[in-house]
Amino acid sequence: MLKVDNLNVYYGKIHALKDINFEVKEHEIVALIGANGAGKSTTLKTISGMLRSSTGSITFGNEDISHIESYKLITKGLAHVPEGRRVFLQMTVEENLEMGAYTNPRYIKEGLEDVYKRFPRLLHRRNQIAGTLSGGEQQMLAMGRALMSQPKLLMLDEPSMGLAPILVDQIFDIVKELHEQGTTILLVEQNAGKALEIADRAYVLESGRIVLSGTGAELAQSEEIKKAYLGG
Ligand SMILES: Nc1ncnc2c1ncn2[C@@H]1O[C@H](COP(=O)(O)OP(=O)(O)OP(=O)(O)O)[C@@H](O)[C@H]1O
Ligand SMILES: [Mg+2]
Repeated sequence: MLKVDNLNVYYGKIHALKDINFEVKEHEIVALIGANGAGKSTTLKTISGMLRSSTGSITFGNEDISHIESYKLITKGLAHVPEGRRVFLQMTVEENLEMGAYTNPRYIKEGLEDVYKRFPRLLHRRNQIAGTLSGGEQQMLAMGRALMSQPKLLMLDEPSMGLAPILVDQIFDIVKELHEQGTTILLVEQNAGKALEIADRAYVLESGRIVLSGTGAELAQSEEIKKAYLGG
C-alpha cells in the first residue's frame, strides 16, 4: 500500500533522514520506533507532503505521491494525525469533525455517528470548544477528525503522548479495532512496548537511519530493543 524508497530529508544543513526505505502492506499495523529526534515525525511529514525528500520516491497504492500536495492526499485515502493534536482550538468538537470530512461532505452524518460510537466522550462534548478539551480528549478529536476522511492508511504520530495509562489503553484499543475493521496503520510511538505488542511489523530509527526491522514479536524479544527502549 505504501512504499518509501531512499528518502533523504534535510532541514537546512541538518540531515534528518538518511536513505530511508520501508513499506506498509495492506491491512498491516507497522510501527516506527526510536528515541527523541530519531526522525519519526519527519518521516510521517515527508509521506504526507509537508516536507520534501531530496531523493527517492513515495508510492501509495500504485501512484508516486512524492510531489503531491498534502491536501490532495486526503482525497486519496491518506490521513495523518500529527504530533501534538492539531485541532482547531476555536471551533467546537462537531465543527472540527465536520472539517475532517471536507473532502467527502456526504459522509458527514454517517461519519459523525461512527466517530461518536468510537469516542462517546466526544458525543457528550460535541458543542464544547475544542481548546477547552483535556489533552486526551483532544487526541480523540484529532483521531476522530482523521477518520471523517475515511482513510485507507492512517498515520498516527504519538497518539498516546501525555495520556494517563487508562486512556493510553483506550487509544491502543481503538487503533486495534480500526485495524480489525480494515484500516492500514502506520504508528509512531515512544511507547515501544505497547506499539510492538500490536504491530505486525516494526522499524527502528536511530539518528535518521533505519537500524533494525522485524515483526513486532521479534523486536519485542530483541535484547538490543529491550535495553534501549523497553527499560531493560
Ligand atoms: N523544523 C526543523 N528545523 C530544523 N531541524 C529540525 C526541524 N524539525 C526537526 N528537526 C530535527 O530533525 C531531527 C528529527 O526530528 P523529528 O521531529 O523527526 O524526531 P522524532 O523522532 O519525531 O522525535 P520525537 O520523539 O522527539 O518526536 C531532530 O534532530 C530535530 O531536531
Ligand atoms: Mg516526533
